[in-house]
Amino acid sequence: MVDRLREILGEKKGKEAYSTLSREGRVRMGLNENLLVNRFFSDTLMAEAIKRVDVREYPPPKGWVAASAIAESLGVWEDEVLIGNGSDEILDLIAKVFLSSEGREAIVVDPTFEMYKFYTSIAGGRTRQVLTTGDFDLSADSILSAIGDSTKVIFICSPNNPTGKQFNRDEVLRVVEESGRLVVLDEAYVDFAPYSLSGECTQYENLLVLRTFSKAFGMAGLRAGYCVGNARLLKWLRAAQSPFSVNSVAQEMVRLVIENRKVYEAFIRQVIEERNYLLAELEMLSGVDAYESDANFILFRLPPGIESGSVVRRLGEDGIDVRDRGGLPLLENCVRVTVSTRENNLKFIDSLRKAISEEGKK
Ligand SMILES: Cc1ncc(COP(=O)(O)O)c(C=O)c1O
Repeated sequence: MVDRLREILGEKKGKEAYSTLSREGRVRMGLNENLLVNRFFSDTLMAEAIKRVDVREYPPPKGWVAASAIAESLGVWEDEVLIGNGSDEILDLIAKVFLSSEGREAIVVDPTFEMYKFYTSIAGGRTRQVLTTGDFDLSADSILSAIGDSTKVIFICSPNNPTGKQFNRDEVLRVVEESGRLVVLDEAYVDFAPYSLSGECTQYENLLVLRTFSKAFGMAGLRAGYCVGNARLLKWLRAAQSPFSVNSVAQEMVRLVIENRKVYEAFIRQVIEERNYLLAELEMLSGVDAYESDANFILFRLPPGIESGSVVRRLGEDGIDVRDRGGLPLLENCVRVTVSTRENNLKFIDSLRKAISEEGKK
C-alpha cells in the first residue's frame, strides 16, 4: 500500500485535486493545523481506515488499537501510553485527577498555551504563573522557587506555543529531577523540533509527555492525542477516562499514519523548509521582529506603534486568519502565524505588508 501511495504522490495528484483554502474560502493560518500534509494522501489513508472499521460497533475500548501501535513505534510498553480524544482530553483528565481538590495548584510557564489554565480552573484548581526568560527560554530556578506546598502539577509546553521555542533539555530535566512534582511536558509540536523526551520519560516517576496527531500528522479534525509515561501514573488517568472517547476511524488512522511515517516525515521536512522561508520573509519587513521557531508556526512582533489587534483584523478582511497574541504576558503587539503552503505564505506576507503600511499612516 505504501508503494501505491508513493506512486500517487509522485503523480502530484494531491496538488491538482484540492485547494489549499478552507471550505469557506479562507486562508487558515491561525490554529497551527498542517496543510502541508498532502490532502490526497490523507484522504486515501482515511478511505482505508473507514474500510477497516464497522461503525455500527463501539470502538476498541480505551483506544487500545491506537495505543498499541504508538507504544510499538516508541519502543515502550502498552500500559505506558494513554490515547485521548485529542491531547486536550488528556489535559482535562490530568486536571480532573490531580488538580480537582480545593487549594491544589498548577504552575504554568507563561506565555504559553491557554488551555492549561482553562482545564485547571474548570477542575477547581488554581494556577501560578512563572515567566519565561526574556528570550523565551525556561528557567528551572524560577520554577523551582515558585513551588509551594499546594503545587501538584507543573505544565511545560516545549516547543512552546505561542513562542515556538523548544526549551533547553537540561533545564526541563532539572525541573523533573528536582521539583518532586508531576511534570506535564506538552510536546504537541515536537515533530518539527530537534529533540523529544517521549522515548525516555517512562524512566521517571513524575513525568508525562503529551503528543498529538493534530499537528505534524494533519489529523486535527479526527481528534487523537496521547500521553506517554510511567504506567503507575497512567493508571490514574486511565481509570478516569470514559471507555469510548477515541472513535474507531481515528484509531485505525493512527495505525495507518504510523505505518506510513516515512511519507509524513517528508511533509514535516516541507513544513520546516516553508518555516525558514516565511521567517526570512518576515525578517525582511521593516521593523518586524520575528522569532526563530521549532514548531509549525512563527511568532512575530509588529513595529512600535502598530497594534496587533488592528493588523489581525485587516488580515482577516483579506480572508487570512492568524492569531493575535498581543494580550499574553511578554507578547505586546505579537502575532502568531501558522506555516502554510508557499501560495498561502505569499498571500499572508503581501497582506501583512499592506496592513502594516495602512496602520502606519494612522
Ligand atoms: C501546545 C498544545 N497542546 C495541545 C494542543 C491540543 O491538541 P489536540 O488537537 O491534540 O487536542 C494544542 C492545540 O493547539 C497545543 O497548541
